[in-house]
Amino acid sequence: MIIIGIDTSCDDTCIAVLEARNKKIKILSNIISSQTNLHTKYGGVYPFLAKREHQKNLPIVLKKALKKAKNPKIDLIGITVGPGLEPCLWTGVNFAKDLSDTLVKPLIPVNHIEAHILANFVGKSQISNLKSQIFPAVCLVVSGGHTQLILMRGIGKYKLIGETRDDAAGECLDKVARILGLGYPGGPVIAALAAMKLKVKNEKLKINLPRPMMYTKDYDFSFSGLKTAVLYKVQSEKRKIKSEKYIQEMCREVQQAVIDVLIHKTLRAAKDYKVKSIILGGGVAANDELRKQLQERIKKEIPNTKYLIPDTKYCTDNAVMIAITALFNKKKATKNWKKIRVDANLKI
Ligand code: KG4
Ligand code: ZN
Repeated sequence: MIIIGIDTSCDDTCIAVLEARNKKIKILSNIISSQTNLHTKYGGVYPFLAKREHQKNLPIVLKKALKKAKNPKIDLIGITVGPGLEPCLWTGVNFAKDLSDTLVKPLIPVNHIEAHILANFVGKSQISNLKSQIFPAVCLVVSGGHTQLILMRGIGKYKLIGETRDDAAGECLDKVARILGLGYPGGPVIAALAAMKLKVKNEKLKINLPRPMMYTKDYDFSFSGLKTAVLYKVQSEKRKIKSEKYIQEMCREVQQAVIDVLIHKTLRAAKDYKVKSIILGGGVAANDELRKQLQERIKKEIPNTKYLIPDTKYCTDNAVMIAITALFNKKKATKNWKKIRVDANLKI
């Protein structure tokens, strides 16, 4: 079976082609047309600008993805219907509907959050054999749009147990990068600068930021206060902001504050729900320090718990994760695809 995945939920136009045969999944192509340069200018994503780019890019990206996959016969089309930016989602959905119509093949609506979780199963051939070892699991999905803790009892069986009450973790990093004049997206550049600082410790420059909601009894998060704390510090220390070392130290501390809260709440959820595994997903899951520190803490505190992280290239938005989610949901294939609608606030 050949599956096409399409994602236009934010600022990347993504199309991938997968082949599923004898329970083995092969990636035939994975094309991402990034609008980063366009949005760097503004320090964030403007939905209507992003929508226009998707409209322009979709036919080109499809052609590339099909060519790279050697133009196979398509059986199934997976399309992200939410959550995401509404105008961008509609552009992708309308494009996918046309494609479904032209190829006379079923369309599967995909939840972007579920896709970030299932990105963990790309490249794992015998998922059915793994099920008894993995579930129940606690999933931490951290991206530019979301920060959620989800209890997963199997594929398709999710319960949201906590989420951010304001900004997402990635959004916080993006906003801090804007405050520091580092461009967009903020996560990768903050990670790179933080890694430099880790090598050159300078006690005089030490910055302490809050760890919002770290010890509250729920599984919720809040990151907007962290960004405001950075803003106040920077405003009160105008002179030092010019120093490269000050920026590196700020990046290290803000990244560590985010990581501390994410790890603390994830481990508590894992212990409370006595899960067999912890699953990470979303753009911020590409962060090396988060990946490493979470692994160390699991090893120390709950060593019998499995730890699943996607390959870094499947953490940030991509359509391989959309195609694999469509495959897992192929029973949702509907002849009524014309009725598929987007939901910008779609829940898992
Ligand atoms: O999943 P994603 O590509 O898009 C959404 O669904 O939101 O996530 C993008 C987010 C951005 O906020 C970006 O700054 C962050 O992921 N990000 C990172 C890293 N790479 C991307 N954050 C921290 N460290 C990284 N290496
Ligand atoms: Zn995403």
